[in-house]
Parts: sequence; C-alpha cells; structure tokens
Amino acid sequence: MKAAIIREFGDFEVLKYEDIATPKPKPGHVLIKVLAAGVNRLDHYLREGSVVPELPFPHILGADAAGEVATLGDGANGFVIGERVVVVPGYPQNEEDYDIYPASQAPSFGLPGLHIPGTYAQYIEVPARYLLKDDTGLKPEEVATLPVVLATAVRAVKEVGGVKAGDKVLVQAGASGSGGMQIQIAKVLGADVATTIRNASKADFVRQIGADLVINTRDEDLVERVKAWPDGRGADVVIDNLSGDVLAKSIEAAKPTGVIVAFGFAAGPDVTFDIRSLFFAQKQLKGSMASDKRDMEFGLKLVQEGNIKPLLDHTLPLSSAAEAHRQIANNEVKGNIVLLPWAA
Ligand SMILES: NC(=O)c1ccc[n+]([C@@H]2O[C@H](COP(=O)([O-])OP(=O)(O)OC[C@H]3O[C@@H](n4cnc5c(N)ncnc54)[C@H](OP(=O)(O)O)[C@@H]3O)[C@@H](O)[C@H]2O)c1
Repeated sequence: MKAAIIREFGDFEVLKYEDIATPKPKPGHVLIKVLAAGVNRLDHYLREGSVVPELPFPHILGADAAGEVATLGDGANGFVIGERVVVVPGYPQNEEDYDIYPASQAPSFGLPGLHIPGTYAQYIEVPARYLLKDDTGLKPEEVATLPVVLATAVRAVKEVGGVKAGDKVLVQAGASGSGGMQIQIAKVLGADVATTIRNASKADFVRQIGADLVINTRDEDLVERVKAWPDGRGADVVIDNLSGDVLAKSIEAAKPTGVIVAFGFAAGPDVTFDIRSLFFAQKQLKGSMASDKRDMEFGLKLVQEGNIKPLLDHTLPLSSAAEAHRQIANNEVKGNIVLLPWAA
C-alpha cells in the first residue's frame, strides 16, 4: 500500500510517499480502507521532533481516519465488509485497560500516528471495539476532519471545562481546527462564545460557526474586551489552545473562580504568569489531553443530528502530505486539511 512515512525528525521533506506492506488485521481487529485522513498540528510537531524524543521509525503519522471496512480479523464482530466507519482517536492497547476512564489515562493508551501506526496510509488496522459506524451521511473527507478535534473538544469543553447553558466561554484561536470545534461544542451546550483571531480574514469563518464576540488580538486588548462582555467579570471558562505568552492573558480573562483549560501550545510550551493571578481569585487551571470513546460517541451524535459541522478547509492527495504540513506550520488553514490516500 501507499503511505506517507517519516524515517527521521526534520523539516517537511522528511515526509516520504512510499510503498509499504499492507497490515493484516490481528484477531478482534478490522482492516480499514482509509478514504480520507485528517491532518492535525500535532502531526507537524511529531514530524519536527518537538513533542516526543523518539518514534518507532519508519513511522506513519496521522490520528484521523474515515474509511470503509476492508477485512475482518478473527472474532471481529459488528461490522460488514464495505461499511463506512470512523476510527476512535486513541484507545488502550491492552485489554486490562479497556475499562479505564478516561481512556487517555490508561497506561497503554495509544494515539494513531504517535504510539501506533497512523492514518496517512491506504489501510490501517484498528480494534473493532474502537471503530464507530459512520452514519453521518457526510463525505469521507468531511468525516476525516472530525475525530481528534471533535472528541477532544467534547472532553475539554464539556467534561474538563464543565461548560453549561448560560456560561460565557472564551476560545483562544477560534479558526484553528481545535478552536473551531470547541466553539461549536460550547454553543451546543448553550454558552455564549468569544474567540480570538489574529488575522481579519478569519473573522467571518469564526462568526459563521457561532462565535458571538470576535476579538482580533493584533489590534484589540483581549482582557479588556472579555471583561466588558457583558457583565464586566470575565469568562466562566477559557479554552486555551495557545499557551506561550497567551496563557497569562487567558487567566486574566477568566472571572473569579473561573476555569482555564490548558489544551494546546500553538504559541509555545513555555509559559510565565504571576501565580497570584490564579489563586487570589480562586481560578482553576486544568489540563485536558486526548479523549475517550464516549467523547467521540457524544460528538458524533451531534454531527448526525446536524448540530455540529465538520470544518474542512481543503483536500490534498496523500502524496502531498509534506505540503499539508507546510500549510499548517504557516497558519494558512481554517479548520482542517484532509489527505486523500487514493487520489492521483
Ligand atoms: N489537548 C488535546 O487533546 C489536543 C488535541 C488536539 C490539538 N491540541 C493542541 O491544540 C493546539 C491547536 O491545534 P490545532 O490542530 O487546532 O491547530 P491549527 O489548526 O494548526 O491552528 C493553530 C492556530 O493557532 C494560531 N496561532 C499559531 N501561533 C500562534 C501564536 N503564536 N499566537 C497566537 N495564535 C497563534 C494560528 O491561527 P492565526 O494565525 O489565525 O492566529 C493557527 O492557525 C496545538 O498546540 C495542538 O497540539 C491539543
């Protein structure tokens, strides 16, 4: 089969489009024909070598896949050949960890493209229990935008952030793949949502997906705008996809006793803030990492009901994986890019 693989860390060109052996499904596993593979910023970090010090080279990146069942391994039940499916983005590898909740805290938790072979390939094998039927009626390239951003948004906004109807929620970097989905989840939960952009060309995009207040941090003061919106106290919950020099502002923008969810570090992993900004007003800084199958099921139901829209920016053939990473690195993407493994 064709796959985009890396044999070393490095710049975009270390992503090579090659022929490799097609996996055979182990007992209880299913071989999926990947019709579309989503690209996340994490893949770019992994390729650079800035997140984990080693990967099992040669390595296939990619955590998101939409496809159809190609072959059933022994004892893999519940699916038929040709059925459209979507892969749960991360699951325990060992049976004794299957009941740990959330699954991301299981010692054997594996994310495709990080701990186990990823989705930038024509086929991937997945345990049947971590496969969901795709009843969305959407195109594979739309579905492939969903798993990581959808399931992690449910975890961060609903489970960790505890967002509820009437809350005011600030989502940092609303036009990012993750931010766009977090806005939609917060709106479904009944919140009012403020979001940040740095480029005016992304304002319409975040408004269309539900942002009530759009703050361009190039020329507006984030904390002032959020505090003035509308009761002068700040956000109940802040979802911070950026960290770096932005996290201190996220903490300031939260109301007293508010929650700040540390979700990503697109602005860098090193942060500095005055600890008094957190504990004097009893604000809570919480981490949210990956997701559980239940988060994905919750999110997929919202998609099926038409309450959440996939945010597909554009597709590229799998052979252009390096170009997809260049576009992510240059912040050229709104929502997600998707790779097509069978396109010429
Ligand atoms: N916790 C989890 O489970 C989880 C899951 C998925 C992703 N993440 C993390 O969440 C973050 C976002 O991921 P993603 O895939 O959604 O990213 P993405 O789609 O690539 O978007 C990131 C956006 O952040 C903005 N940005 C980049 N550098 C910035 C800076 N220095 N200051 C302000 N804004 C900046 C850019 O938008 P503008 O240029 O328009 O400002 C960029 O488009 C990443 O750190 C990722 O690793 C975490």
